[in-house]
Amino acid sequence: MTKKPVKKHVDPSTTGHSWDGIEEFNNPLPRWWLWTFYACIVWGIGYSIAYPAWPLVKGATAGLLGYSTRAEVAQEIQLFEDANAALDAKLASVELTSIAQDPELNRYATAGGAAVFRTNCSQCHGSGAAGAKGYPNLLDDDWLWGGDIEAIHATVSHGIRNTQDADARFSQMPAFADILEPEEITAVVNHVLAISGQQADAARAATGATVFADNCAACHGDDGKGMRELGAPNLTDAIWLYGGDEVTLTETVAKARFGVMPPWNTRLSESDIRAVATYVHQLGGGE
Ligand code: HEC
Ligand code: HEC
Repeated sequence: MTKKPVKKHVDPSTTGHSWDGIEEFNNPLPRWWLWTFYACIVWGIGYSIAYPAWPLVKGATAGLLGYSTRAEVAQEIQLFEDANAALDAKLASVELTSIAQDPELNRYATAGGAAVFRTNCSQCHGSGAAGAKGYPNLLDDDWLWGGDIEAIHATVSHGIRNTQDADARFSQMPAFADILEPEEITAVVNHVLAISGQQADAARAATGATVFADNCAACHGDDGKGMRELGAPNLTDAIWLYGGDEVTLTETVAKARFGVMPPWNTRLSESDIRAVATYVHQLGGGE
């Protein structure tokens, strides 16, 4: 067993401070430490002159080198925008129907459109575009307002039933609670259940057929297959915007629905609108 050698107490020069008998030595700082410290001060002064450093009321001192991370990002974005400028201009100006025929343009549009969709559309239509109650599924071939590229482009540009764009698609189903008797509503709901292939009360459905012809056919068509000029949904398929069960149908007929989509021509560039329209068009249901 060897004991650690105990350093001899040589020069007890202290600062004179003492806490509970513990005294503070007055040793000089290590040289290497002191010089590093001075070097840091010099470097710090140099840095705050060369680079943005001192906070002011608005922003900060710019620094002699004029460096800015913001400008660097802007420069990089500009680089990509310059590289895409020609394609972007082409996308914004060609005939809508010709986009799909040009493989390079189509690739550019669908890739860009997917990004535009994720940022601007997925909140309502879902990240996979499958929709939700009141927000249509954009993957299928069931269209409220039309599924060719021109119809989709118009829908996205101007929106639906909004107050911001005078060219927005518009129609309004009346709330039938003010128009029909409760029994007539039950009857017409049974008619809708019947034409959509669901279980229905036959006698009520028969009465409902007349109610439908008088009150609903003007928008939904005699056969209930809907009308795109009015955005009136097809009521004979199993695809529902709001729901096809008796309770939901009764609520829809009594209180009506008023789905609103904002216009995008005020927020997105023409090429972005075309890109996202192309993206939606090729999701599966495009006509
Ligand atoms: C605030 C919610 C909201 C956002 C955001 C939104 N939509 Fe919509 N969109 C709707 C609603 C609601 C409808 C259905 C309106 C109706 O009932 O007719 C709709 C309908 C549509 C339709 C018509 C579908 C059909 O069957 O005819 C298309 C196409 C569409 N949206 C595309 C887009 C695109 C592309 C974006 C992004 C640029 C977008 N939407 C963003 C709410 C939204
Ligand atoms: C003035 C035109 C108009 C009339 C009349 C009308 N509807 Fe509608 N109906 C619409 C529109 C437009 C929508 C879509 C509303 C929306 O997208 O928010 C709709 C939606 C519906 C829906 C929802 C479908 C779904 O997929 O969820 C049902 C059900 C319906 N109507 C039934 C009826 C019945 C029954 C009548 C007659 C009693 C009727 N409508 C009369 C225009 C009309």
